[in-house]
Amino acid sequence: MKEINVGLCGLGTVGTGVVKILQDHGNEIKYKVGSEITVKKVLVHDINKKRDVVIDPEWLTTDPKELVDNPEIDVIIEVMGGIEDTNLLMERALKNKKHIVTANKDLMAVHGQQLLKLAKANNCDIFYDASVAGGIPILRSLSDGLASDKIQKIMGIVNGTTNYILTKMTDDQLDFDPVLKEAQSLGFAESDPTSDVGGLDAARKMTLLANLAFKMEISLDDVDISGITDISQEDIAFATSLGYTIKLIGIASIQDGKVEVSVEPTLLPQDHPLAMVKNEFNAVYVYGEAVGETMFYGPGAGSLPTATAVVSDLMEVIKNINLGISGNEYVTPQFETQLKTNNEIFTKYFVRMEVDDEAGTFQKITNIFSDEKVSFAKILQLPGSKKETAEIVMVTHQISKQQLINSLENLKGLSVVNRIISYYRVDGEE
Ligand code: NAP
Ligand code: HSE
Repeated sequence: MKEINVGLCGLGTVGTGVVKILQDHGNEIKYKVGSEITVKKVLVHDINKKRDVVIDPEWLTTDPKELVDNPEIDVIIEVMGGIEDTNLLMERALKNKKHIVTANKDLMAVHGQQLLKLAKANNCDIFYDASVAGGIPILRSLSDGLASDKIQKIMGIVNGTTNYILTKMTDDQLDFDPVLKEAQSLGFAESDPTSDVGGLDAARKMTLLANLAFKMEISLDDVDISGITDISQEDIAFATSLGYTIKLIGIASIQDGKVEVSVEPTLLPQDHPLAMVKNEFNAVYVYGEAVGETMFYGPGAGSLPTATAVVSDLMEVIKNINLGISGNEYVTPQFETQLKTNNEIFTKYFVRMEVDDEAGTFQKITNIFSDEKVSFAKILQLPGSKKETAEIVMVTHQISKQQLINSLENLKGLSVVNRIISYYRVDGEE
């Protein structure tokens, strides 16, 4: 069997975990793949930084060419992050016939299809299982274990930072800002956490999941994204009193060849399996036509969980090298991407508004909804925070997104409605 030399780009949270796993599980890994694995070079920013693993100082370099142009190196493990410069580097590595393992969802969501095509053209593999839901082997499950099924719906908690924040806001009534700082110090959050709390990180992961599940070329622009920054303690309290938990949920669903991919705060029944996923944990619920419901649960981030997925991908690369079957990862998308319109997206909605507390208000509001043929499953009215106002919270039956948009627009024109405070998707109910 061929000896495998690895170039590791990045020795931060994930890179350190990769080195630890290669050191601590080296014998088992060698037994399983039949090849000796040697780390030849490690790309870092700062050679003098103190590291959490024992490594040969000779490995370290700040020059990427020592990895991607190095004829001794067979596989590049990219765990440094970044998009455009990293893409150029990975293109160069592929042209130099190096296989790639990456944990970089930002890169794969933007340039993944081109990199996969380039890899195939160069008979190389590029695996990226760690990029979605860290330690949960969800991409591999979709491409291998569930390959024979037709996937109809995926619902995922795929961002650990936002799940951590929402858990602490719900269970401990803590405020958003201090909990975000805690998530940053625990190492889940991105260096710029706006991509976590704004939903972009989850959206990138959902495009990767949707493309694998539906065999299309769905881009980030096709994803409807909203984050968690506007969720208040009052929203959470109302949701709780109505029997729901608020989670940032990524949804990818297909019907009659048309898809919806979205990331948005969503109310789930408190006994829904995804509602019980707490703290930084991730979970992905997959509904397949034949298999029915399945759920994958585990750590979505962190050094060793993410590194486990990276090293497992490395092992897959090595198995393919030894079998002489590298370069078959990319399959031309089978279907043209067709997005559902707002008239074709059906769900329930939670709507919360502040209104004048006077006779006739309620009827005016219900008239607006009934003009749009919207009916309600739950209604709650409480005194508002200001004098002579009330807060009304409604949960609709299943309606189209367009019906909701029209109703909200018409409500804004009613003088008795002071403001629409919030509205969220409600999912996961019969
Ligand atoms: P990190 O802790 O910030 O580490 C990044 C590493 O890359 C550092 O060692 C840094 O060098 C090096 N680096 C970055 N840019 C470089 C450049 N231009 N040239 C040379 N070296 C460079 O990041 P991380 O958390 O390990 O994340 C790495 C990747 O994995 C990202 O794509 C991230 O999205 C993904 N990911 C992370 C997690 C997680 O739990 N952290 C989970 C899933 C996926 P220095 O050490 O010298 O600064
Ligand atoms: N910032 C990401 C999260 C890290 O919170 O899930 C893992 O991709």
